[in-house]
Amino acid sequence: MMAAQFTVNIQIKSLDELAKINDKSLIQSQAYVDGRWVSASSGKTFDVADPGTMQKIGSVADMDADDVRRAIDAASRAFESWKSTTAKERSLILRRWFDLIISNKDDLARLMTLEGGKPLAEASGEVVYGASFIEWFGEEAKRAYGDVVPSPLSSTRMVVMKQPVGVVGIITPYNFPNAMITRKVGAALAAGCTVVVRPAHETPYSALALCELAERAGVPRGVFNVVPCSAENTPDVGKELTTNEAIRKVSFTGSTAVGKMLTAQAAGTMKRVSMELGGNAPFIVFADADLDVAAEQLVACKFRNSGQTCVCANRIYVHESVYDDFVSRFAVLVEKRLRIGHGLSEGVNFGPLITERGLQKIEDQLKRAVDAGARVFLGGKRPDILAAGYFFEPTILVDVTDEVPMSCEETFGPLCPIFKFSSEEEVIRRANSVPVGLAGYFFSRDIGRVFRVAEALEVGMVGVNTGIISTEVAPFGGVKESGFGREGSRYGIDEYMNIKYINISL
Ligand code: SIN
Repeated sequence: MMAAQFTVNIQIKSLDELAKINDKSLIQSQAYVDGRWVSASSGKTFDVADPGTMQKIGSVADMDADDVRRAIDAASRAFESWKSTTAKERSLILRRWFDLIISNKDDLARLMTLEGGKPLAEASGEVVYGASFIEWFGEEAKRAYGDVVPSPLSSTRMVVMKQPVGVVGIITPYNFPNAMITRKVGAALAAGCTVVVRPAHETPYSALALCELAERAGVPRGVFNVVPCSAENTPDVGKELTTNEAIRKVSFTGSTAVGKMLTAQAAGTMKRVSMELGGNAPFIVFADADLDVAAEQLVACKFRNSGQTCVCANRIYVHESVYDDFVSRFAVLVEKRLRIGHGLSEGVNFGPLITERGLQKIEDQLKRAVDAGARVFLGGKRPDILAAGYFFEPTILVDVTDEVPMSCEETFGPLCPIFKFSSEEEVIRRANSVPVGLAGYFFSRDIGRVFRVAEALEVGMVGVNTGIISTEVAPFGGVKESGFGREGSRYGIDEYMNIKYINISL
């Protein structure tokens, strides 16, 4: 086993770091409903902690199902006027919101690092990525065209138009506290829908800061509502958002298990549903690949956000003829590139996991892998010198077989199991052997293989000779139990629009 030497141990005081945010009006602790900052009707709050220090950074309004009902009422009232605004009006408001997010990038990134642990440069990248959806859908609003259908009768004309679906319930995860909201809300608002968002209880501050900027951009009251709640209130709030008759569409990013439950709840009132659920991405290195490029891309793909990404490489398959060579190149790069520590410490690019529970899941998976015969090649433990914070070393596992539970479980952490394969046919079968299909990656310079494998992988997104595929211009989403619906791209706005056919008899 190689010893990992990449820990940065600088003592951070989370509240002192919070105080460095320039624009204090971006730090909001109440919910945002009907254009006003409001407390929970129970008066209850829940605590938010910095995962890099475990220190509390504040308390936020703990909304319950009754509070959410009020937010849905506000969104329903606002829908009556928002749906009638012109695409150009909505586009201009979204453009102003985009500009404000970009001009407040540094404060938003600092806030995100403090509540979610993401290293500052990466958090800043997420703010830009998040803003790009507001910009993109502001532009797409003006291009939500319908059709004129050639009629089979000379006496009729046929027109197809697109209309907003109505009030949307949105439930988002902690791993992208800004971008998972903007990717949905940008499309919804552009289409003419109004929204009620339940952000993750670990990361409500980023969501609330977006409300402050939306208000400044001129988003009318009731159009964008954010209802934070504790882990305890989450099931009731989720139930309200998926069963309330006024909600016409639910959009969720999170685990497959929760996605199935929310979809079943939403079926009672036949809501439209978009589900961006768990992945278990294969990352395949063929013998003809450029091994340095593949190793470089694996570092970015696997360890982005400390492995807490739905599209992270989860199962790495390397051809037997280049296995040892690839593993050693990759391990050298991991040690050279990654620095673990608090996300606000200089030079750190690998932060903590979100909670103790996340950490324990990784430890449990690692133990079961080792029990099944895998060998730790690098990392494998909590870093000794980082006493506080949910840190775990980037970990490479070798000699991994399909008997290891990680061959079919999503990891959502910095464990990198490397499997061996011998043929293209075999690796495609193994890559497709899981019930989910979000992203997949492979490395090859053979053009025939590029098409064969890209077509054969049962996933919604494929990276060929790259480990980074996310952008606002491309359709993001999965197949099989990774869910349905597409976010971003020109397809994303359709998720928030109904098609209406009009037959005119002359
Ligand atoms: C996710 O992990 O759900 C989103 C990742 C991305 O947008 O790249």
